[in-house]
Amino acid sequence: MKHLSLFCLYALVTLYGHTGVLSQGPSYGERGSDLGIQVFQQVVRSRPLENVVLSPHGVASILGMLLPGAHGVTRKQVLNALRYKKKGPYNMLKRLHKTLTAKSNQDLVLIANAMFSQEGFPMEEAFVATNKANFQCESRSLDFSNPQGAADEINEWVNNKTKGHIPSLIKADMLDSALTRLVAVNSIYFKGLWKSRFQPENTKMRPFNGGDGNVYKVPMMSQLSVFNISMATTPQGLKYKVIELPYHGNTISMLIVLPSDEDTPLSRVIPHISTATVQSWTKLMHMRKVRLLIPKFTADAEVDLEAPLSALGITDMFSQNKADFRHLSAEPVHVSKALQKAKVVVNEDGTKAAAATTAILLARSSPPWVTVDRPFLFLIRHNPTGTILFIGQINQP
Ligand SMILES: *[C@@H]1O[C@H](CO)[C@@H](O)[C@H](O)[C@H]1NC(C)=O
Ligand SMILES: *[C@@H]1O[C@H](CO)[C@@H](O)[C@H](O)[C@H]1NC(C)=O
Repeated sequence: MKHLSLFCLYALVTLYGHTGVLSQGPSYGERGSDLGIQVFQQVVRSRPLENVVLSPHGVASILGMLLPGAHGVTRKQVLNALRYKKKGPYNMLKRLHKTLTAKSNQDLVLIANAMFSQEGFPMEEAFVATNKANFQCESRSLDFSNPQGAADEINEWVNNKTKGHIPSLIKADMLDSALTRLVAVNSIYFKGLWKSRFQPENTKMRPFNGGDGNVYKVPMMSQLSVFNISMATTPQGLKYKVIELPYHGNTISMLIVLPSDEDTPLSRVIPHISTATVQSWTKLMHMRKVRLLIPKFTADAEVDLEAPLSALGITDMFSQNKADFRHLSAEPVHVSKALQKAKVVVNEDGTKAAAATTAILLARSSPPWVTVDRPFLFLIRHNPTGTILFIGQINQP
């Protein structure tokens, strides 16, 4: 199944209506997810026939961690892309984080955040404190002058937090022994059992029409049950079905989107997806007794976030000269790499999914500018003897 780079079922895991999170207007969970969905849309445009898995919330989370350190245009670009309010998104993000990870979810959602900083890197206290308060973000110091050792440590943390699903996120060559200052990491692990499980004896090899036009034999799970199903239409009039598969805790569902017409490529439907579209499906849902056949599958993907985020207007943080993280540290830093790895495993019992997202921050390789643009004094000195050969004052060069 891993090889079905052409397997194009599009599954979306959403979190439904917990008090206070889904209110009027997009919630903070939705605002962040919309940006993540747009990243996904960018990525699938360049990989139309591959399996792609991405955690929209993971993308929003890593930006949310950097946000308290950002200033000026760097900050504005992130706020605009996320549609966060200018002032104090942190209370909302804190509530979101609490709700997502609440013990009341019977399905397991584990979200962990950490910042690994270079020993001795002077981070602003308020930046560290805000991240700790809002996202229970751990802070650890590391020695990046040993890139392999530092990468191993970060990967071990990711491996622990994703319960072995993402064994490695960072390669040593992404770290610079002299300039890496901070690696921010978000990890999300989800484990949900289907509310209505599939019987393994009903899983049979059946044909699946791959996105490339070939037919593949894949293990198809099957069950006869009552499901919420709706028929929706894109603005261009293309019809698609939405099927909801709830997990046993009843707060999380997988939604499967399937174009109704076999000839409609998935790529015609994906651009139309947003959290508002997803909300609109809930109104169209009807409970119907059907025999549902869906493949058992495992898929994973690695996504470099710089190009998609830049296309969505987040550019300055990646620029050595424009990045403004003055509330993170007095030493100028910029994001040299942002990436996410995600994996999903769907079988008869339920779903396990994990994502790890990181932003690696580097100090400037060229020193900060010092501009002599005012009257100045010069001395010409013979150093071995200390002899001043000339001295001058320049008021107007
Ligand atoms: C990973 O988990 C193991 C076992 O709980 C623990 O000993 C280790 O310190 C953890 N590693 C990191 C980097 O947190
Ligand atoms: C269908 O959706 C409604 C409304 O969200 C929900 O109450 C019900 O439990 C769902 N039923 C199934 C079978 O998923």
